[in-house]
Amino acid sequence: MAVPLFDTATPLAPLRETIMERIAEVVADSRFVLGPNVQAFEQEFAEYLGVRHVIGVANGTDAITVGLRALGVKPGDDVIVPALTFYASAEAVVNAGGRPVFCDVDHDTRNVTVETVRAALTPRTRAIVSVDLFGLPAPDLRELGIPVLEDAAQAAGARHNGAMAGALGDAATFSFYPSKNLGAFGDGGAVATDNDDVAALARSLRFHGSRDKQTFEHVGYNSRLDEIQAAILRVLLPHLDAWCHGRRAAAAAYEAAGVGRYVGVPAVPEPTDPAWHLYVVTHPRADDVMSRLNDAGIQARAYYRVPLHRQPAMAPFVDGIGPLPVTDQLAATIVALPISPVLTEAQAGEVVAALAEATA
Ligand SMILES: Cc1ncc(COP(=O)(O)O)c(C=O)c1O
Repeated sequence: MAVPLFDTATPLAPLRETIMERIAEVVADSRFVLGPNVQAFEQEFAEYLGVRHVIGVANGTDAITVGLRALGVKPGDDVIVPALTFYASAEAVVNAGGRPVFCDVDHDTRNVTVETVRAALTPRTRAIVSVDLFGLPAPDLRELGIPVLEDAAQAAGARHNGAMAGALGDAATFSFYPSKNLGAFGDGGAVATDNDDVAALARSLRFHGSRDKQTFEHVGYNSRLDEIQAAILRVLLPHLDAWCHGRRAAAAAYEAAGVGRYVGVPAVPEPTDPAWHLYVVTHPRADDVMSRLNDAGIQARAYYRVPLHRQPAMAPFVDGIGPLPVTDQLAATIVALPISPVLTEAQAGEVVAALAEATA
């Protein structure tokens, strides 16, 4: 039996009719940008996250750029970013005028820690991008006394210590790219924050740096969540918790099937409910294992094989940074296994059986 890496279609099937109705309503209403659905989604998502403000933007990359500027990052400021994450986490720092300073991650959680961030601090550090990698919330870094932007693109629906991912920094950002845990039918993103001033600046930056469309106080962006995507996200949001529960059940099924006998599995520090956007394991022969899984019909994929401090576009930012041994080791050994809210125990068992052969 083939097992796909993601299954976005099955969870959406029962909602398709409602989604089509909501899209038709937007078309009939003819308000396509920053209309009532964006406003309502911003409120509903803020309530879900337990924060005061959500600002919808065009995608998760812009959300980081806007969020960092709203936190006060100015041209030339240093911003600490893990070297093991999607490229956008660092690209957005550069687009905000900042200089990414790469830090290492913890081997077992794959996330930054207070210590790995502390080791990368410079006199010019103005903010930290704390990525909830693969759906596991990163530790709360606010004890360091530097503004924290939580990149929760992969962690919608996760919880840490009773708080939602997205409420664990001074501001947080989300991506609603279709394959994400809360995925729209196109691009979308959001900035979330409890801070009224950060929210006001982010709201202005997403619309050309203007609050009233007459006076332009900042050089900003045209980066807005559109009405159709917001209308769809409003249908999906009430299902996010159940979907994340399904993702955790899939991870539990892998563990029950003995996945840890063959590969390294992610550590989950208590008290955390991860949202497993990706279920990522490690093996010293990662590429070989992956191609054997693929041969057996099990879709598996490498992520971040070339970590950010080794990407050509980041070359101007790596002089003087220390070695990042854990990032390098993880980048070489990571394999993402199939995961979705509807992955069955039988599928998990099949993947683990294929892993047993692939790693023999
Ligand atoms: C960790 C992380 N940050 C940022 C992004 C960027 O989001 P988007 O693709 O919506 O711009 C993504 C997703 O692709 C991501 O995985």
